[in-house]
Amino acid sequence: MMRFKENNYNKLFVGLSNLIRYICGGDRLKRITNIIDELLKKKYLEKNRKLKILDFGCGSMEISKKLKDKIYVGQIVGSDIFKHRYESNRIVYVDNDELFKKKEKFDIIFIVDVLHHIGVDDAYKMIKKLSKLSNNIIIKDHFEHGYLSRQLLRFVDFYANYGYGVNIPKKYFDKASWKKTLIKSNCREIFHIKNFQQHDGLFNFILNKKHHFVSIIKSNE
Ligand SMILES: C[S@@+](CC[C@H](N)C(=O)[O-])C[C@H]1O[C@@H](n2cnc3c(N)ncnc32)[C@H](O)[C@@H]1O
Repeated sequence: MMRFKENNYNKLFVGLSNLIRYICGGDRLKRITNIIDELLKKKYLEKNRKLKILDFGCGSMEISKKLKDKIYVGQIVGSDIFKHRYESNRIVYVDNDELFKKKEKFDIIFIVDVLHHIGVDDAYKMIKKLSKLSNNIIIKDHFEHGYLSRQLLRFVDFYANYGYGVNIPKKYFDKASWKKTLIKSNCREIFHIKNFQQHDGLFNFILNKKHHFVSIIKSNE
């Protein structure tokens, strides 16, 4: 699925980058989907019933598509600023505006590689809004470690989101700004993986695990 107008140049770029990803260990979804799967399963066992899940900033819903047939899924709602059309018996898409108007509650929300696009300084506002919809939020995002690491993340973000019209951030979370975000959103972290390996091979060598974290947060309210 592509958001931009298809032309030969873009098709060639996407084809080439998919080939490079395939050869060089650049599958970003394999490990992310596995950890989200594990955490959702845990919540399912805890609640002892199927879950209503929100995939916030779902993009083309690649993660939800991989999870939709799992035993713990009651329904997955995808929401994004980009209107996506994919639906199945277990996945529906709800517009961002509608989502917050409806105030529908979820057992759990996951937000994968979205908050840095919203902006490190503004992310707390979105977390606050989302924490009114669920008290269990799984977040996967990036940590930067100085100037070079920031530029590397920006380059990879550009490469990964080419043609999707996604805003490339000027900065990413670090330990201090993440802590500040939690305080400002009135949430606490109950689980954190600091060095989360996302890729394999050359991709893992270039953007190693110290650039990725996974967290579960709960509202203090
Ligand atoms: C890197 S993509 C990640 C997509 C998906 N979560 C995944 O991991 O495959 C970032 C997504 O965040 C979405 N996004 C950016 N700002 C947003 C906002 N304010 N509200 C909802 N989604 C947003 C973009 O449209 C884009 O689909």
